[in-house]
Amino acid sequence: MGKKILCVGLVCLDIISVVDKYPEEDTDTRCLSQRWQRGGNASNSCTILAQLGAPCAFMGSLATGHMANFIIDDFQKRGIEVSHVAWQSRGDTPCSCCTVNIVNGSRTITLYDTNLPDVTAQDFQKVDLSQYKWIHWEGRNAAEQVKMIQIVEEYNQTLQADQKITISVEIEKTREDLHQLFAHGDIVFVSKDLAQHFGFDSAPETLKGLYSRVRNGAYLICAWAEKGADAMGPDGVVIHSDAFPPDTIVDTLGAGDTFNASVIYALSTGKTMQEALTFGCQIAGRKCGVQGFDGFI
Ligand code: ADP
Ligand code: FRU
Repeated sequence: MGKKILCVGLVCLDIISVVDKYPEEDTDTRCLSQRWQRGGNASNSCTILAQLGAPCAFMGSLATGHMANFIIDDFQKRGIEVSHVAWQSRGDTPCSCCTVNIVNGSRTITLYDTNLPDVTAQDFQKVDLSQYKWIHWEGRNAAEQVKMIQIVEEYNQTLQADQKITISVEIEKTREDLHQLFAHGDIVFVSKDLAQHFGFDSAPETLKGLYSRVRNGAYLICAWAEKGADAMGPDGVVIHSDAFPPDTIVDTLGAGDTFNASVIYALSTGKTMQEALTFGCQIAGRKCGVQGFDGFI
């Protein structure tokens, strides 16, 4: 087996109710269907990487109990290696847990966080880096994640250029402490949410406004839902792909995670940034046309 892609970040349980219209308060309605689904950005990105045929692994926190077992079974079923840090069971909600309602394509997420401690640099120290060609961090406990990235950078210094591990980070949430991640990573994914929080109205505007925060030579990438996605590298040229909307938008939960994984996959197999953006938008667009993460790749 070739070298793997490791994603570090959240795994949680998504409890999804599909409804035809958003329920009104104090009413009693039926949903169209209901399911449990393994969720979390880094975990979802692994689901896509595995389907694209990339050997991959997940690293994150999980407790013990039946919800965690469901999650571990699903990772296994899909051939995703799990390097998780197990914490003690906390009542009946032993992993971070989300309830998600989907309404005709739009999605409302109610997050119940059990505050499991995130993976630390000390945990990460145990990772055998020689197994990986790419490591992706979903921005969470940023200060610790910077330390993990530094471990990889030191390791990279011992390797020839074509053997180095590529580092990517995703900055999705608007929390200020995540901003330190901009300066790390060969590839930095910034969300529309964060862009709007900074006051930007489009992906190109975001790239021009935030590029000075990334490190020398890095690419900054910003996806913008139905507007597609843009990227900018050290030459300052904005690269764009339109979105590829499906006939009907069914489920956009995890579209961004699908996009990130597809871009990472394409770049890790030697594609250009333009090809990777286009591929990312194509796969993410197809994902929006189906429920869940199966049957569109
Ligand atoms: P998320 O809602 O998960 O944060 P993004 O807005 O970052 O997702 O979108 C990621 C990618 O998914 C976009 O670049 C686009 O290619 C695709 N996408 C998301 N929403 C739509 C949509 N409504 N129509 C077409 N493509 C979409
Ligand atoms: C989608 C997702 C869901 C989860 C939520 C966590 O991007 O990872 O699977 O419920 O976001 O914020």
